[in-house]
Amino acid sequence: MPEPDGAGGGPTRPGRRVRLAILISGRGSNMEAIARAAQASDYPAEVVLVVSNRAEAAGLARAAALGVPTAVVPHREFPSREAFEEALHALLAAHRVEAVALAGFMRVLTEGFVRRWEGRMVNIHPSLLPLYPGLDTHARALAAGDREAGATVHLVTPVLDSGPVLAQARVPVLPGDTPETLAARVLEAELALYPRAIADWLRPWAAAG
Ligand code: GRF
Repeated sequence: MPEPDGAGGGPTRPGRRVRLAILISGRGSNMEAIARAAQASDYPAEVVLVVSNRAEAAGLARAAALGVPTAVVPHREFPSREAFEEALHALLAAHRVEAVALAGFMRVLTEGFVRRWEGRMVNIHPSLLPLYPGLDTHARALAAGDREAGATVHLVTPVLDSGPVLAQARVPVLPGDTPETLAARVLEAELALYPRAIADWLRPWAAAG
């Protein structure tokens, strides 16, 4: 007989942990927040790999400091987007990755790659989607006179920043905000949101064994 669910809704016996890879291009603060959350034994995912498309990404050192294996797939060294993605896919497969989190990963992925990972790949975007897909989200929110801003965790589908929303966090826009001050406030919300959204997304999967 399976154990009944605990009061928090999660299983009372430890489920298995989903093998998660995080793709980055830069600073890696969201990656670090996820990797730190995943250090808890009841987190439903294990971060088995951090991949950057840029060797100089600061996030690589942050991942290594946490003991997470890292790899670089330098997109410029591939003749095409497809060839880059083939190498990325092969690396993920070699590490038996089951789910992927994009965290400041600044490459647009082709439909072919996205379809291979459909339902198993999430992204965080620094706006309240469907508002402001793409770049410069904070400047656009300020230019529009928005009273609130935020971040969205969504499943990745072939159309950029348009997949089903898993979770959002909202922050106020304050008088005198610049794109930088607003970005800092949104980032703080992101760092709480993304690990939680991934846990909620993967918990049923982990519990299913
Ligand atoms: C975050 O604001 C994220 O929403 C966006 O890029 C930024 C990445 O920051 N996609 P970091 O690399 O996690 O520090």
